[in-house]
Amino acid sequence: MKSEENIEDIDWDYIWRKELGEKKREKKDWNEIADKFGKWIEKDDYPIKLLNHVKVSPSDSVMDLGCGEGTITIPLAKKSGHLLAVDKSDKMLDLIQAKMIDEGLSNIITLRQDILTLNKDNIGQYDVIVASRSINSAYNMKEVLSNLNDIARKYVYISFYGPNNRKEENKALEAIGKKVPRKFDEYIIIFNLLNSMGIHPNVINLECESVKGYDSINEAIERFNWRIGTVSDKEREKLNNHFKKNLIQNSEGKWENPNNKGDWVLIWWKKEI
Ligand SMILES: C[S@@+](CC[C@H](N)C(=O)[O-])C[C@H]1O[C@@H](n2cnc3c(N)ncnc32)[C@H](O)[C@@H]1O
Repeated sequence: MKSEENIEDIDWDYIWRKELGEKKREKKDWNEIADKFGKWIEKDDYPIKLLNHVKVSPSDSVMDLGCGEGTITIPLAKKSGHLLAVDKSDKMLDLIQAKMIDEGLSNIITLRQDILTLNKDNIGQYDVIVASRSINSAYNMKEVLSNLNDIARKYVYISFYGPNNRKEENKALEAIGKKVPRKFDEYIIIFNLLNSMGIHPNVINLECESVKGYDSINEAIERFNWRIGTVSDKEREKLNNHFKKNLIQNSEGKWENPNNKGDWVLIWWKKEI
């Protein structure tokens, strides 16, 4: 890119596609970890920090995209009129159904669908849209953001990794001799992409404090394995040594790395009417 180019000339959609393409994300099967996901984020302060920013009133219709097992969905439904919870993982949706019954909530409808295909014509409009940690793999990001803006009547909230989220994962990758991906700050591209679309969002680092805890070193390895793709036996051995050096056991017996805090950025905007 030439240095004399104006910021308006930058094609952020192209940059997004290029970065995402180079990263060659593994297609994760969320069904595989649906049962474990809730436990993994049990002590996570991310949901409460996110929810503190979401403006929703008791008469609002809300759409929770990539709702997972309901960590955000359930508290959000309690504050809203009705909520559509969308996910492509049927196991995640089963877990939400069970939580709805436990909590006595009747204002949630679940829908199994790919959230990247939703638009105003096929789903209608909702007051508030939340896509928490769920649209980061969208190759057609510009189209997805434009559709979310069309679907929303009042607010859109989307969240992405912050700049430090992959630091410890990258150290583990180095430890086993795997290539560390080039730094790719999703939220910076998304912010610029939205601006280029005439949408001027707010960007907030949620400043999460909680660290990831594992029941055992083996669980830490399994979780790493799921995140980055298959780990060979040899790499597993190296990972074992790496985690033994870097994880300490806390007072509850969980293994954690005090530096491995979740780092999440919320991007939100008020719909222009
Ligand atoms: C990291 S979890 C986030 C769950 C919840 N929103 C949260 O923040 O705790 C990602 C969820 O998004 C869902 N998801 C990812 N891509 C999706 C897509 N294209 N269509 C529908 N669901 C998707 C996954 O099945 C998974 O349940």
